[in-house]
Amino acid sequence: MNFTGAHILSISQFQRQDVDQIFSVADRMEPYALRKRVTRVLEGAILGNMFFEASTRTRVSFGSAFNLLGGEVRETAGFESSALVKGESLQDTARVLSGFSDVICMRHPQEGSVADFAAASRVPVMNGGDGANEHPTQALLDLYTIARELQAKGRKIDGLRIAMIGDLRHGRTVHSLSKLLSLYDNVQVTLVSPKELALPDSIVEEMRSAGVDVSISDELNNSIANVDIVYSTRIQEERFTSKEEADLYRGKFRLNQAIYTQYCEPNTVIMHPLPRDSRSDANELDSDLDNNPNLAIFRQTDNGLLVRMALFALVLDVVDKVDEYSHDVRWYNSRQN
Ligand code: CP
Repeated sequence: MNFTGAHILSISQFQRQDVDQIFSVADRMEPYALRKRVTRVLEGAILGNMFFEASTRTRVSFGSAFNLLGGEVRETAGFESSALVKGESLQDTARVLSGFSDVICMRHPQEGSVADFAAASRVPVMNGGDGANEHPTQALLDLYTIARELQAKGRKIDGLRIAMIGDLRHGRTVHSLSKLLSLYDNVQVTLVSPKELALPDSIVEEMRSAGVDVSISDELNNSIANVDIVYSTRIQEERFTSKEEADLYRGKFRLNQAIYTQYCEPNTVIMHPLPRDSRSDANELDSDLDNNPNLAIFRQTDNGLLVRMALFALVLDVVDKVDEYSHDVRWYNSRQN
């Protein structure tokens, strides 16, 4: 695909070579993300960061990635601090904000809303999560992490065995990651969820049509026995009609060190898009895993910076200018010690 000026709305817009290109640019962003170099390549550019649903890492990661490329960030967080509460349409918001920004990132609770916004925008729009639909940049950083974890073991994404666990019905990161995995060969996916929270049939069919070997289970322990990656997810309480309904499923699939040691292969990598629900009635990924070297959840968040920097550099067409506009870091860098 031609990235210049493109919206990033869905995994469906990518071919495998596009993903390769994003990952190759992400690798080149590492000196900047690690503060070994500073680049000002996006000096003067403005990111409009519009988050109409709760977020910690996606919002700050988009903003930090843009800052690390030298750009400025202007944010709106929550409906209550935007004119949407006064009845302004998303389209009018897009027409206004795209006059102020060079690129816009947006999260919104309604499926399809970011695409609707993008249709009225004069600048590229990136989907930071639209309801239970998609979270394409999370899937890209997840797959980038999978590639790096496998590469350290001399493996490639082709041939991957992964178990995806939890609320697969509402989990937009799983929806996007499933579509992304369909681009690769000999992938085995085990879907582990209560029947009521199963991955939508359309996505299962899409994977099977693409040649992915999909199996379905509602039992955790045996499902994590022969996989390279355990990808745990949160019960998406905000998508249920009530907390009581979410409570029916919370805590059903708890992974801790004892279960990991008993059932997983020794090098199985543990991933989670985060936030993990650490409340006692959920505890889907126990803190006793925190010293397990195969816990990759914070490598995922670090990799998110690289992938989002790569997307900005590609969409704003500055990939080959990043190094030209760079200089040494002038401050103490704790990452190098
Ligand atoms: N993974 C993710 O989307 O996290 P946030 O909700 O904190 O952005």
